[in-house]
Amino acid sequence: MKKILITGGAGFIGSHVVRLFVNKYPDYQIVNLDKLTYAGNLANLSDIENKPNYSFIKGDIVDAAFVNELFSQHKFNGVIHLAAESHVDRSISNPLEFVMTNVIGTVNLLNASKAYWFQHLNNEKTPLDFRFYHVSTDEVYGTLGETGMFTETTAYDPHSPYSASKASSDHFVRAYHDTFGLDTVISNCSNNYGSYHFPEKLIPLSIYNIKNNKPIPVYGKGENIRDWLFVEDHANAIDVIFHNAKAGTTYNIGGHNEWTNIDLIRLLCKIMDEKLQRPEGESAKLITFVKDRAGHDLRYAIDSSKLKNELGWTPSLQFEEGLEKTVDWFLSHQEWLNNVTSGDYKKYYNEQYVKR
Ligand code: NAD
Ligand code: DAU
Repeated sequence: MKKILITGGAGFIGSHVVRLFVNKYPDYQIVNLDKLTYAGNLANLSDIENKPNYSFIKGDIVDAAFVNELFSQHKFNGVIHLAAESHVDRSISNPLEFVMTNVIGTVNLLNASKAYWFQHLNNEKTPLDFRFYHVSTDEVYGTLGETGMFTETTAYDPHSPYSASKASSDHFVRAYHDTFGLDTVISNCSNNYGSYHFPEKLIPLSIYNIKNNKPIPVYGKGENIRDWLFVEDHANAIDVIFHNAKAGTTYNIGGHNEWTNIDLIRLLCKIMDEKLQRPEGESAKLITFVKDRAGHDLRYAIDSSKLKNELGWTPSLQFEEGLEKTVDWFLSHQEWLNNVTSGDYKKYYNEQYVKR
């Protein structure tokens, strides 16, 4: 029996990780800790919420007293830490919120883990079965030119307040391994897509706008390149790394699947024309070039050969197949979309949308 704390489990990737662990490991107790910000939604987990090995706790990782109390109440064997402010555009509007959750929140969790781990060592004199897994991003490596890929030894060079806060949290995680001997693991993943993706990010926003005949905002000339990975493949990689990596190690996770934003949007428009039975080329008329993101990284590409060679993980889905699956999911989950596009999100989106 293992008890695993998953933070940010009501968000996009977190909900897939929670679902995978709850279903795959019925003998584990999975505790989902989430503040339920605008990006967190318990509806993402409605299919597993009544499972006996799942429980939810609403709480803020920035609140150190709350986090310490949580660790004194539960005997966790591991933490899979996904809770974060995750949207680059919001980090440009409000950097401090990213420092609070992504840096202070992570250090609070590390401190609670360290205290719990040392206490066990002092009392029991035996090593504790405990691991702190930090879920991070390829954005910490900065930007690439036309060639090359990020490896685990690429120097950190973050450019947005979001990536700077994630880089900082990665450094703290490594420091707690090197200084205190805490069992930590980090993974840095490329752009995810799939079901339950919050529609402020490029793919779900574009699907939502195409469906509703709204402009598709493409930043700059749409030449920026991202490396897309199906979210369930990311969750599987987290499972493999959590259970098999050596303490203190880092793994890159990516799809070997680079697309310029404009090519990706054109492909999405083609799929949407077919699904909505529109004349070919109809959805592409919605493409609208808008003001570029400040400090916009040109290209990300992940070399995940270490993960493949050492732990045997590879992505399972081809992009076209994954994208079509994702479109089908969004078109059949209108109620979910209507719920998450009301209130705070709508206000933010309207304020941010600037036509070039
Ligand atoms: P998300 O924004 O969809 O979800 C974040 C979750 O964290 C939400 O449920 C939110 O309520 C929760 N949260 C935020 N602040 C909190 C706080 N102070 N206390 C407790 N809970 C809080 O994010 P996501 O896209 O699912 O990303 C999850 C993790 O994966 C993040 O750490 C992100 O940096 C990383 N990541 C994301 C991607 C991607 O493409 N989305 C790629 C690589 C890495
Ligand atoms: O690379 C991993 C990162 O991917 C994660 O760490 C982040 O949490 C996640 O949000 C994502 O960051 P991006 O900034 O790459 O994702 P986003 O969907 O916001 O943007 C993808 C690309 O599309 C980027 O080049 C900016 C562009 N874009 C985005 C939006 C929202 C547009 O052209 N128009 C848009 O409206």
